[in-house]
Amino acid sequence: MKNVLVTGGAGFIGSNFVRYFLKVHPDIRVVNFDKLTYAGNLENLWDVARNPQYLFVRGDICDGAAVETVFKDQDIDTVVHFAAESHVDRSILGAGVFVTTNVGGTQVLLDRAKQHSVERFVHVSTDEVYGSLGPDGKFTETTSLHPNSPYAASKASSDLLALAYQHTFGLPVVVTRCSNNYGPYQFPEKLIPLMIVNALHNKPLPVYGDGLNVRDWLYVDDHCAAIDVVLQRGAVGEVYNIGGNNEWKNIDIVRLLLGILEKPESLIDYVKDRPGHDRRYAMDASRIARELQWEPSVTFERGLRSTVEWYVSHRSWWEHVMSGEYMEYYGKNYGAR
Ligand code: NAD
Ligand code: DAU
Repeated sequence: MKNVLVTGGAGFIGSNFVRYFLKVHPDIRVVNFDKLTYAGNLENLWDVARNPQYLFVRGDICDGAAVETVFKDQDIDTVVHFAAESHVDRSILGAGVFVTTNVGGTQVLLDRAKQHSVERFVHVSTDEVYGSLGPDGKFTETTSLHPNSPYAASKASSDLLALAYQHTFGLPVVVTRCSNNYGPYQFPEKLIPLMIVNALHNKPLPVYGDGLNVRDWLYVDDHCAAIDVVLQRGAVGEVYNIGGNNEWKNIDIVRLLLGILEKPESLIDYVKDRPGHDRRYAMDASRIARELQWEPSVTFERGLRSTVEWYVSHRSWWEHVMSGEYMEYYGKNYGAR
């Protein structure tokens, strides 16, 4: 492995991964290919911009010619594919771009990767492809796929395409499916940063439905480490679940955040539920622990505190990303609730 193409490296997890990877593998070049949608931001990588092992190329994964050029010019031998439309609420407001990017873009990338005979293609996916759980049990890698939101359906489609390229063409694909991430540089449309930012502004915290939906939270650096072990040692054609073994009801997280920020619970605002809202996610991540010796290392208490501290001390970062586009989306998503 000499030249790794990281798609979506200017987003939340992608930028944390680029930083992590350059630190752990200083001898490997990283080429970050990103369209810079509303969610992509080069400020996320200000500290590695001058690293000689790092290159940013602006481009769209749906653009076959641009993807071909980056593979050829940069002699790409490995792909870690993050680029996607990632927010469930946006997929409910409009599904088109989710299909275009997540399904169509992944197919373009798989074709180019096949053409260039890459050594490995890690497709980064999500627990949401499994659907929703009742009060008990966890998703395993053999749980059948039952995506419920347009976002989840587009991710499930891309997982199946990636695995089909492995089966049909022998492309060395490995799929990871992870639970909810949190940490620095997460766009403030997602639960944890949105609640932090609203609380800092003394604005209402919009909790969907009864607030009792459950998610399994993982600190973003732990996800990056898991992807790295799958990249190095994961078995081709296989799927690895990644999770924090860390289930929380949304309302309890919101209360924790208010406590850390010393803000009143009167800011909590129960609003109309997300349509089709999955009730509970929980990951059985025993396979990656057993076979690849990966386990989460950051406790929720430590991760949440340091995330809050990061948002408190990086006000200019989030004020900057909460541009006109964000305010327009906020009005559309929350105005009608
Ligand atoms: P994000 O929305 O923060 O970042 C997505 C990045 O992809 C942005 O930099 C954006 O500019 C880029 N992008 C979007 N469309 C593109 C296109 N057509 N061509 C090139 N680049 C494009 O997303 P994230 O939360 O960092 O998620 C990254 C990946 O991890 C996604 O595939 C997502 O499905 C998956 N995932 C996310 C989570 C989570 O909790 N956030 C959990 C599991 C899996
Ligand atoms: O599970 C992995 C997935 O986690 C990833 O694949 C997605 O890319 C990522 O966005 C995330 O999806 P969720 O829908 O679980 O995350 P979100 O932060 O949007 O919401 C988390 C929970 O909080 C969910 O039950 C909805 C609720 N919520 C969210 C927002 C934005 C609220 O109650 N109020 C809100 O304003």
